[in-house]
Amino acid sequence: MASGCSGAAAFWDQRYRDGSDGWELGRPAPPLQRFLQADPHAPQPPGLVLVPGCGRGHEAALLAAGGFQAVGLDFSTEALAEARRLHGDSRAQLRWLQADLLDRQALGAQGLGAGSLSGVLEHTCFCAIDPSQRDAYLAQLHHLLKPGGWLLGLFWCHRRQGGPPYGSDPQQLHQQLSGAGFVPELWEPAQGSLQSREDEWLALWRLAP
Ligand SMILES: C[S@@+](CC[C@H](N)C(=O)[O-])C[C@H]1O[C@@H](n2cnc3c(N)ncnc32)[C@H](O)[C@@H]1O
Repeated sequence: MASGCSGAAAFWDQRYRDGSDGWELGRPAPPLQRFLQADPHAPQPPGLVLVPGCGRGHEAALLAAGGFQAVGLDFSTEALAEARRLHGDSRAQLRWLQADLLDRQALGAQGLGAGSLSGVLEHTCFCAIDPSQRDAYLAQLHHLLKPGGWLLGLFWCHRRQGGPPYGSDPQQLHQQLSGAGFVPELWEPAQGSLQSREDEWLALWRLAP
Protein backbone atom coordinates (compact mmCIF):
# COMPACT_ATOMS: atom_id res chain seq x y z
CA MET A 1 0.00 0.00 0.00
CA ALA A 2 1.29 3.47 -0.85
CA SER A 3 2.43 5.42 2.17
CA GLY A 4 1.78 9.06 1.16
CA CYS A 5 -1.66 10.49 1.88
CA SER A 6 -2.88 10.89 -1.70
CA GLY A 7 -1.39 7.48 -2.56
CA ALA A 8 -3.21 5.96 0.39
CA ALA A 9 -6.52 7.58 -0.64
CA ALA A 10 -6.00 6.28 -4.20
CA PHE A 11 -5.43 2.79 -2.78
CA TRP A 12 -8.80 2.88 -0.99
CA ASP A 13 -10.56 4.50 -3.97
CA GLN A 14 -9.42 1.62 -6.12
CA ARG A 15 -10.72 -0.93 -3.64
CA TYR A 16 -14.17 0.69 -3.71
CA ARG A 17 -14.08 0.82 -7.50
CA ASP A 18 -13.06 -2.77 -8.12
CA GLY A 19 -15.28 -4.19 -5.38
CA SER A 20 -12.43 -5.57 -3.23
CA ASP A 21 -14.19 -4.08 -0.20
CA GLY A 22 -14.51 -7.20 1.93
CA TRP A 23 -14.95 -5.06 5.06
CA GLU A 24 -18.34 -3.80 3.87
CA LEU A 25 -21.21 -5.00 6.10
CA GLY A 26 -24.03 -3.12 4.37
CA ARG A 27 -25.18 -1.92 7.79
CA PRO A 28 -23.75 -0.58 11.05
CA ALA A 29 -21.61 -3.15 12.91
CA PRO A 30 -24.07 -5.12 15.10
CA PRO A 31 -22.11 -4.80 18.41
CA LEU A 32 -21.92 -1.03 18.01
CA GLN A 33 -25.56 -0.69 17.03
CA ARG A 34 -26.73 -2.82 19.94
CA PHE A 35 -24.56 -0.91 22.39
CA LEU A 36 -25.68 2.50 21.17
CA GLN A 37 -29.36 1.60 21.09
CA ALA A 38 -29.72 -0.64 24.13
CA ASP A 39 -26.90 -0.28 26.64
CA PRO A 40 -27.52 2.03 29.61
CA HIS A 41 -23.84 3.09 29.48
CA ALA A 42 -24.04 4.28 25.88
CA PRO A 43 -23.09 7.92 25.26
CA GLN A 44 -26.16 10.09 24.88
CA PRO A 45 -26.95 12.91 22.42
CA PRO A 46 -26.66 15.76 21.76
CA GLY A 47 -23.08 16.31 20.68
CA LEU A 48 -20.79 16.55 17.68
CA VAL A 49 -19.42 13.10 16.87
CA LEU A 50 -16.84 12.06 14.30
CA VAL A 51 -16.65 8.75 12.44
CA PRO A 52 -13.11 8.54 11.01
CA GLY A 53 -12.71 6.41 7.87
CA CYS A 54 -16.49 6.23 7.65
CA GLY A 55 -16.57 4.37 4.32
CA ARG A 56 -20.17 4.05 3.15
CA GLY A 57 -21.31 5.88 6.25
CA HIS A 58 -23.53 3.35 8.02
CA GLU A 59 -22.34 4.28 11.53
CA ALA A 60 -22.46 8.02 10.85
CA ALA A 61 -26.07 7.68 9.67
CA LEU A 62 -26.90 5.61 12.76
CA LEU A 63 -25.50 8.30 15.06
CA ALA A 64 -27.42 11.00 13.21
CA ALA A 65 -30.65 8.99 13.48
CA GLY A 66 -29.97 8.66 17.22
CA GLY A 67 -29.84 12.42 17.72
CA PHE A 68 -26.13 13.19 17.44
CA GLN A 69 -24.67 15.70 15.04
CA ALA A 70 -22.52 13.29 13.05
CA VAL A 71 -19.57 13.91 10.75
CA GLY A 72 -18.56 11.03 8.49
CA LEU A 73 -14.95 11.62 7.44
CA ASP A 74 -13.04 9.74 4.77
CA PHE A 75 -10.28 10.66 2.33
CA SER A 76 -11.68 8.40 -0.38
CA THR A 77 -13.83 10.11 -3.01
CA GLU A 78 -15.46 6.79 -3.85
CA ALA A 79 -16.38 6.07 -0.22
CA LEU A 80 -18.08 9.42 0.25
CA ALA A 81 -19.92 9.18 -3.08
CA GLU A 82 -21.35 5.89 -1.82
CA ALA A 83 -22.17 7.40 1.59
CA ARG A 84 -24.10 10.22 -0.08
CA ARG A 85 -25.90 7.81 -2.40
CA LEU A 86 -27.00 5.63 0.53
CA HIS A 87 -27.71 8.22 3.22
CA GLY A 88 -28.22 11.53 1.40
CA ASP A 89 -26.18 14.70 1.06
CA SER A 90 -24.78 16.66 3.98
CA ARG A 91 -27.42 18.30 6.16
CA ALA A 92 -27.63 19.71 9.68
CA GLN A 93 -27.52 16.37 11.49
CA LEU A 94 -25.17 14.48 9.15
CA ARG A 95 -22.17 15.91 7.32
CA TRP A 96 -19.70 14.21 4.98
CA LEU A 97 -16.15 15.48 5.05
CA GLN A 98 -13.38 14.48 2.65
CA ALA A 99 -10.02 14.81 4.41
CA ASP A 100 -7.11 12.89 5.85
CA LEU A 101 -7.91 12.27 9.50
CA LEU A 102 -4.31 13.11 10.42
CA ASP A 103 -4.36 16.51 8.68
CA ARG A 104 -5.01 18.87 11.60
CA GLN A 105 -5.06 21.97 9.41
CA ALA A 106 -7.67 20.58 6.99
CA LEU A 107 -9.91 19.46 9.84
CA GLY A 108 -9.53 22.77 11.67
CA ALA A 109 -10.59 24.62 8.53
CA GLN A 110 -13.81 22.57 8.59
CA GLY A 111 -14.65 23.41 12.19
CA LEU A 112 -13.01 20.35 13.70
CA GLY A 113 -10.46 22.01 15.92
CA ALA A 114 -9.06 21.29 19.35
CA GLY A 115 -11.75 20.12 21.77
CA SER A 116 -14.54 20.39 19.19
CA LEU A 117 -15.90 16.85 19.54
CA SER A 118 -18.09 15.17 22.14
CA GLY A 119 -17.26 11.76 20.78
CA VAL A 120 -15.61 9.56 18.18
CA LEU A 121 -16.96 6.30 16.83
CA GLU A 122 -14.24 3.98 15.52
CA HIS A 123 -15.02 1.08 13.22
CA THR A 124 -12.31 -0.45 11.00
CA CYS A 125 -10.35 2.76 10.48
CA PHE A 126 -7.76 1.92 13.15
CA CYS A 127 -7.08 -1.47 11.53
CA ALA A 128 -6.92 0.14 8.08
CA ILE A 129 -4.10 2.57 8.80
CA ASP A 130 -0.49 1.49 8.97
CA PRO A 131 0.42 0.51 12.57
CA SER A 132 3.22 3.10 12.48
CA GLN A 133 0.47 5.76 12.37
CA ARG A 134 -1.50 4.50 15.36
CA ASP A 135 0.08 6.86 17.87
CA ALA A 136 -0.65 9.77 15.51
CA TYR A 137 -4.25 8.54 15.12
CA LEU A 138 -4.75 8.47 18.92
CA ALA A 139 -3.03 11.84 19.38
CA GLN A 140 -5.38 13.30 16.77
CA LEU A 141 -8.47 11.96 18.59
CA HIS A 142 -7.10 13.35 21.85
CA HIS A 143 -6.64 16.74 20.18
CA LEU A 144 -10.16 16.77 18.71
CA LEU A 145 -12.08 15.58 21.79
CA LYS A 146 -13.29 17.82 24.60
CA PRO A 147 -12.28 16.96 28.16
CA GLY A 148 -14.54 14.04 29.12
CA GLY A 149 -15.08 13.21 25.44
CA TRP A 150 -15.65 9.58 24.51
CA LEU A 151 -14.22 7.06 22.10
CA LEU A 152 -16.62 4.24 21.27
CA GLY A 153 -14.92 1.64 19.14
CA LEU A 154 -14.96 -1.84 17.78
CA PHE A 155 -11.33 -2.93 17.46
CA TRP A 156 -10.48 -5.94 15.34
CA CYS A 157 -7.89 -7.85 17.38
CA HIS A 158 -7.06 -10.59 14.89
CA ARG A 159 -3.56 -12.10 14.95
CA ARG A 160 -2.86 -12.48 11.22
CA GLN A 161 0.32 -10.99 9.79
CA GLY A 162 0.22 -8.01 7.46
CA GLY A 163 -2.74 -5.93 6.41
CA PRO A 164 -4.84 -3.97 5.96
CA PRO A 165 -6.69 -4.95 8.04
CA TYR A 166 -3.79 -4.88 10.54
CA GLY A 167 -4.42 -6.88 13.70
CA SER A 168 -3.97 -5.85 17.32
CA ASP A 169 -3.24 -7.44 20.63
CA PRO A 170 -5.94 -6.45 23.17
CA GLN A 171 -3.43 -5.98 26.00
CA GLN A 172 -1.07 -3.87 23.92
CA LEU A 173 -3.97 -1.84 22.61
CA HIS A 174 -5.15 -1.24 26.17
CA GLN A 175 -1.69 0.09 26.98
CA GLN A 176 -1.60 2.22 23.85
CA LEU A 177 -4.98 3.81 24.60
CA SER A 178 -4.03 4.41 28.23
CA GLY A 179 -0.70 5.90 27.16
CA ALA A 180 -2.56 8.26 24.83
CA GLY A 181 -4.55 9.66 27.76
CA PHE A 182 -7.77 7.64 27.48
CA VAL A 183 -9.44 6.03 30.51
CA PRO A 184 -11.37 2.77 30.03
CA GLU A 185 -15.05 2.49 30.91
CA LEU A 186 -15.52 -0.67 28.86
CA TRP A 187 -12.98 -2.98 27.23
CA GLU A 188 -14.24 -6.47 26.49
CA PRO A 189 -14.68 -9.03 23.71
CA ALA A 190 -17.61 -7.83 21.63
CA GLN A 191 -20.92 -9.71 21.65
CA GLY A 192 -22.81 -10.31 18.43
CA SER A 193 -19.95 -9.85 15.96
CA LEU A 194 -20.44 -11.35 12.53
CA GLN A 195 -18.73 -14.72 12.05
CA SER A 196 -16.13 -13.20 9.74
CA ARG A 197 -15.27 -10.70 12.50
CA GLU A 198 -14.52 -12.79 15.51
CA ASP A 199 -11.86 -11.25 17.75
CA GLU A 200 -13.52 -7.85 17.87
CA TRP A 201 -13.24 -5.90 21.13
CA LEU A 202 -15.80 -3.36 22.19
CA ALA A 203 -14.37 -0.22 23.73
CA LEU A 204 -15.70 2.83 25.49
CA TRP A 205 -12.89 5.10 26.64
CA ARG A 206 -12.95 8.71 27.78
CA LEU A 207 -10.57 11.57 28.22
CA ALA A 208 -10.37 12.80 31.81
CA PRO A 209 -12.97 15.56 32.42
C1 LIG B 1 -11.60 -0.78 5.87
S1 LIG B 1 -12.40 0.66 5.34
C2 LIG B 1 -13.72 0.78 6.55
C3 LIG B 1 -14.86 1.68 6.17
C4 LIG B 1 -15.98 1.76 7.21
N1 LIG B 1 -15.48 2.21 8.48
C5 LIG B 1 -16.65 0.42 7.36
O1 LIG B 1 -16.43 -0.26 8.37
O2 LIG B 1 -17.40 0.03 6.45
C6 LIG B 1 -11.29 1.94 5.89
C7 LIG B 1 -11.71 3.32 5.48
O3 LIG B 1 -10.85 4.26 6.09
C8 LIG B 1 -10.50 5.26 5.16
N2 LIG B 1 -9.23 5.84 5.63
C9 LIG B 1 -8.07 5.17 5.87
N3 LIG B 1 -7.13 6.01 6.32
C10 LIG B 1 -7.71 7.24 6.38
C11 LIG B 1 -7.24 8.54 6.75
N4 LIG B 1 -5.96 8.72 7.17
N5 LIG B 1 -8.08 9.58 6.69
C12 LIG B 1 -9.36 9.40 6.25
N6 LIG B 1 -9.85 8.20 5.87
C13 LIG B 1 -9.04 7.13 5.93
C14 LIG B 1 -10.45 4.53 3.81
O4 LIG B 1 -10.61 5.38 2.73
C15 LIG B 1 -11.61 3.55 3.97
O5 LIG B 1 -12.82 4.08 3.50
